[in-house]
Amino acid sequence: MKENKPIYVTQPALPPLNEFIEYLKQIWESKIITNNGLFHQQFEKALADYLRIKYISAFSNGTLALVTALQALRITGEVITTPFSFVATTHSLWWNNIKPVFADIEPEYFNLDPEKAESAITPQTTAIMPVHVYGNPCKMERFQQIADTYGLKLIYDAAHAFGVTVNGNSLLTCGDLSVLSFHATKVFNTIEGGAIICHDEKTKQRIDFLKNFGFANETTIIGPGINAKMNELQAAYGLLQLKYVDEYLSKRKDIAALYRERLKGIEGIRFLEDIEGVKHSYSYFPILVDKEKYGISRDELYEKLKFYNIFCRRYFYPLISQFPSYRGLASAQPDNLPVATKVADQVVCLPIYPDLQPSQVSQIVKLIR
Ligand SMILES: Cc1ncc(COP(=O)(O)O)c(C=O)c1O
Repeated sequence: MKENKPIYVTQPALPPLNEFIEYLKQIWESKIITNNGLFHQQFEKALADYLRIKYISAFSNGTLALVTALQALRITGEVITTPFSFVATTHSLWWNNIKPVFADIEPEYFNLDPEKAESAITPQTTAIMPVHVYGNPCKMERFQQIADTYGLKLIYDAAHAFGVTVNGNSLLTCGDLSVLSFHATKVFNTIEGGAIICHDEKTKQRIDFLKNFGFANETTIIGPGINAKMNELQAAYGLLQLKYVDEYLSKRKDIAALYRERLKGIEGIRFLEDIEGVKHSYSYFPILVDKEKYGISRDELYEKLKFYNIFCRRYFYPLISQFPSYRGLASAQPDNLPVATKVADQVVCLPIYPDLQPSQVSQIVKLIR
């Protein structure tokens, strides 16, 4: 029952080519291809409307948006973060010469545990950087309480959380800044891309200066900015994607529901449920494999599925704290991170993307069963 064509963990959703060509014609006519062109401006406005937020700056990718977010708030010293994420979260600290301090995750949805984060605060701590892992919201009220008590900044890596709302409110309104990724693998993609969400005009202005080398005007440079601008082709593509993103999200929701229905009752396989009041992004479909109950380990299941041409991903294994750049840190030691260590050993993400067919989901579950 080997699949003829490989099924990967994700496949980007592309807008209709003929519609994109119409946008390209306009770009070719105007000859404005980057530097805050018309599509860039329209895209930021359309994104703000769609996401129901006030201030957003589009970026060339999410990693540079994270690096710039830390610059914008002048974060230094130590930042408390999660080891259970994509490496870019911690790399953004490294690029700012900030010491990452890892704290453990909570066992329900695998986000940074606020209580563990609070325990890790030192006089050098200036900020907390949690991640809404798989798009599931962090305990935002508690994080805000801790940040307010200790006078810390709060920057959310919301790379997985496009369009997520809690009781009708965008989770991007929380904290000081939030960062999105529009990478090809994400729910909403601009091929490569990202954004910073902030809550006032002055901060947006600072971010916009920083992403354009620090230029405030032709002759004023406010500081060592970087080049992280989104170009006009990405912005036009993004504008077009916004027309289709609800359809993408709704298809992902159906796939997640089908997985849950079919996976029910398999001993040793755990999956995450939707949270009441949350509109989810269905960015990933992680399952946890308990070897004792299921019979084989996560890695054995991963290899078996691969044999059948189904390419899952073990997001997020290894933990960021296990990579050579970070494993020497005291906070990176596995006995400081027992929950994250266990989840990283058990997790595997099943394929999920808008064009994944119900018959393919059934086939994947049949193999797991
Ligand atoms: C949690 C997280 N943070 C940051 C990034 C980096 O985003 P980008 O690939 O757009 O640079 C990604 C994904 O790529 C991610 O999954």
